[in-house]
Amino acid sequence: MKKFIVKITAAGAILACFAYCTSTKNATGNAATSLKDAYKKDFLIGTALNTQQIEEKDAKAAALIPLQFNAITPENIMKAEIIHPQWDQYNFDLADKIVAYGAKHNIKVNGHTLIWHSQLPQFARRIKDVDSFKTFFTNHINTVAGRYSGKIFSWDVVNEALNEDGTMRKSIFLDKMGDGFVTEAFRLAAIASPNTELYYNDYNNEQPKKREGCLALVKKVQAAGVRIDGVGIQGHWHLGRVPLKDIEESILAYHALGLKVMITELDIEMLPRNFQGADVNQRQASNPALNPYANGIPDSLLQQQATDYANLFKLFLKHKDKITRVTFWGVNDGQSWLNGWPVPGRTNYPLLFDRAFNPKPAYHSVMALKK
Ligand code: XIL
Repeated sequence: MKKFIVKITAAGAILACFAYCTSTKNATGNAATSLKDAYKKDFLIGTALNTQQIEEKDAKAAALIPLQFNAITPENIMKAEIIHPQWDQYNFDLADKIVAYGAKHNIKVNGHTLIWHSQLPQFARRIKDVDSFKTFFTNHINTVAGRYSGKIFSWDVVNEALNEDGTMRKSIFLDKMGDGFVTEAFRLAAIASPNTELYYNDYNNEQPKKREGCLALVKKVQAAGVRIDGVGIQGHWHLGRVPLKDIEESILAYHALGLKVMITELDIEMLPRNFQGADVNQRQASNPALNPYANGIPDSLLQQQATDYANLFKLFLKHKDKITRVTFWGVNDGQSWLNGWPVPGRTNYPLLFDRAFNPKPAYHSVMALKK
């Protein structure tokens, strides 16, 4: 009995400590102990989950995620190469698990993503014939969106269809179906999953030229009488260079088309690289100079990051009537994709929690806005 009490007390102490270490006050004056609680009246706060996290194999992540976040996006496992590896074969195992995870913890699930030129299965890349490609496209959306109809909150229906100058990206979809493939994807998704919110998602679509292309794309879908509910701005930004003005102009421009706006893959990268954007096919060779903080990062940079995140969240709060969700692309720094991309094997620090799941200065600066 004594042992049992000690255990309970220890667990309670850890929770109490976490609550104390991360606390701030919410709008009602009560202590808010989490991001989702602090921003409850403003927008959802999400994170991307990897397989370990979906399967709750990572004990610290399993404790932190439901405490801090009320929205989740699978980082990879709903992408076509995993969920639809062969023409007539679907692999729903992990996707079903994230849906069950969301239901269990009362967390909204955003499906990511139905139509994307990257992480496509080999068989789809090899389809030569136009009609067969259209059949693949239709079957994919009907089957995947149909399965989760009523079970997930939203879909990134089309991901990254645009070039930086706002023109349509050259892809197998454009090649086989022409630029109407975007409208067609939304048309099929709206039928397969009538009660799910449907979004177009991209990186750099806050930049003026790409934004113009994105607005034109959305207008085309709308002009066809097809439902599109929102635009996701991925939000892979860089330390000291967060484009606040472009972001604000984009929030206003997308909202003016009657769309919801969400920040879908937020991170603030701390390491150097020689290009901007988040094209997963673009890489840079490894070099020790590109990995300067392998043994720890100076506090001054963490403070700069805290300021960057605070400025961003101030902007999001200013437009909380237009923004429905802000999702971070990962739970903690050690799990971020930016440790492996665009340069392999680096030590990056882009998120609000450090490698030991402790809140960073950026966490506190985001929470402090709600005091
Ligand atoms: C990334 C994942 O985080 C990586 O694990 C994977 O290797 C490549 O894709 N834009 C997107 C996301 O829409 O799906 C990408 O995710 C990051 C860029």
